[in-house]
Amino acid sequence: MKVLIATEKPFSKVAVDGIREVTDKAGYELVLLEKYTEKKQLLDAVADVDALIIRSDKVDNEVLDAAKNLKIVVRAGAGYDNIDLEAATAHNVVAMNTPGQNANSVAELVFGLLVFGVRNFYNGTSGTELMGKKLGILAFGNVGRNVARIAKGFGMDIYAYDAFCPADAIEAAGVHAVESQDKLFESCDIVSLHIPATPETKQSINAELVGKLPKGGILVNTARKEVINEPELLALMQERTDLKYLADIKPDMDADFAEKAAGRYFATPKKMGAQTAEANVNAGIAAANQIVGFLENGITKFQVNK
Ligand code: 3PG
Repeated sequence: MKVLIATEKPFSKVAVDGIREVTDKAGYELVLLEKYTEKKQLLDAVADVDALIIRSDKVDNEVLDAAKNLKIVVRAGAGYDNIDLEAATAHNVVAMNTPGQNANSVAELVFGLLVFGVRNFYNGTSGTELMGKKLGILAFGNVGRNVARIAKGFGMDIYAYDAFCPADAIEAAGVHAVESQDKLFESCDIVSLHIPATPETKQSINAELVGKLPKGGILVNTARKEVINEPELLALMQERTDLKYLADIKPDMDADFAEKAAGRYFATPKKMGAQTAEANVNAGIAAANQIVGFLENGITKFQVNK
């Protein structure tokens, strides 16, 4: 069996070594395509592989057509909006993610962004503290739960809304459950986004919603840029000069935000949430184990297509 790691944004070396240990033990061949710049490189690399490990790399119909022997693709991470699931099913390819494996890494970055934001991007002026502030978490999955855990250490007052998680499960984690998204934005000083990018959530974070934040409100987005309605958020930030937006990965309208919301906007140049050695090891090795589990024993526990 031949396994390809195709990562435009590479894993740490220790993670690749860990993956290799798993594939060696299974008697599989492991090949690597890192930092590729053209889709053609990916199309060539997948031609004869049985299994594929990716990160935010796009696996669409064309890639699946080119991967004649492919049986399984594992997105080493949480969000799988980069895989065309219908096309995978049509090609008889199992698609999986590795939920939770990089959640702490993303959650820690939320606080990196927040401290940077409330201290006015370290520009020397007097900022504010996180202690005692109301933090709203949307939604309460693996990352949201880690955000709540860390927020407790900062002494924050923590709220969450999740359309799919019952209120008592949120309360059991020591977090106030609120009944709607609107309520979360209305009642919190800071809202941190942890929703996946789906047809329902894309562009759902709009001016009407963000405009409910109280004076001095902060929106932090370590989810997907696609969930933001960028033109509306930008217009709102021009109107509401008290609001801040902190994002992991540049929005499409990065230059406009940088110019029109200067001093209140920051975005990482590359998605950094899961870019730690620990997250790479956790997600990468989980992906390798899931591939072996599937190819050897047909285990489909984390399959996301049917
Ligand atoms: C995820 O969905 O797991 C995160 O957004 C990480 O994405 P990355 O692997 O591209 O860093």
